[in-house]
Amino acid sequence: MKKVLVATVKPFAPAAVKQIKTIIEDAGYEFVLLEKYADQSDFINAVADVDALIIRSDKATAEVINAAKNLKIIIRAGAGYDNIDLAAATEKNVVAMNTPGQNSNAVAELAMGMMVYLARNQFNGSAGKELRGKNLGMHAYGHVGKLVGEIAKGFGMKLYAYDPYISKEIIENDGVEYVDDIKDLYSKCDYVSLHIPANDETKGSINYDLISLMPENATLVNTARKEVINETDLIKAFENIEGFKYISDIAPDCNAEVSEKFPGRFFFTPKKSGAQTSEANINAGVAAANQIRDFFEKGDTKFQVNK
Ligand code: 3PG
Repeated sequence: MKKVLVATVKPFAPAAVKQIKTIIEDAGYEFVLLEKYADQSDFINAVADVDALIIRSDKATAEVINAAKNLKIIIRAGAGYDNIDLAAATEKNVVAMNTPGQNSNAVAELAMGMMVYLARNQFNGSAGKELRGKNLGMHAYGHVGKLVGEIAKGFGMKLYAYDPYISKEIIENDGVEYVDDIKDLYSKCDYVSLHIPANDETKGSINYDLISLMPENATLVNTARKEVINETDLIKAFENIEGFKYISDIAPDCNAEVSEKFPGRFFFTPKKSGAQTSEANINAGVAAANQIRDFFEKGDTKFQVNK
């Protein structure tokens, strides 16, 4: 019997776990759950005899993959797969997949919620600012960027998007202004919302050259990955740009310095929360379970990311 392990330091909502279990057991496989594990070694021990693995931001390192002698497939229940050692997976003939789009609405709602929260001075009672009429730039226009645009339209924001992988036509069809130069996006926008993955090309790429183009009192919104920010440059931006603010779904490494020097100009979630809704957990978890079943039963590799 095939064995499927769900390994999540940050657990799915119970309703999602229940649905994943049902799909796995209905397919005739064994379901195993490892939640809130204290140490990476617990994860490594748990994969020893599994055929398939469902994870979130859990680190599927080469050590994990090599310890999983029977492993054929890893599903990252979510969008970003920077936590999987793809080279190690490919080397061991393990298929790696994500579940694109399944948790995007939760992330988009958090991005908007954080914008309101900071614009209203974290609800401290002082006069804040409104989002209506402000320029919002989506830096990348994938599933999350598109949804942020949809919601922001309701707030009356003016929308811009930069994404070299998405056509002008698609962006304009959504009533969003297409920007073909990244510098223009940062120069134009009071808010820039990041929706880029973390990879060799993007890590540290949000630097002072870009941020310093933003107008006074602008806000950078990061629900992508903290690694895409050049943190030395982030501090420089706080120091040199009048009223510059930064919102991030998870604190940067320079949290202590920012907190001490720039009060009221940032908000960081204490735990990565973008995809942490039961709806997103169900969508991504169910998609992951279905993708495992379809891979084993039909050889379906549609969402493979290490082809
Ligand atoms: C993603 O890449 O899908 C999001 O960052 C969500 O990550 P999480 O599942 O660890 O919350």
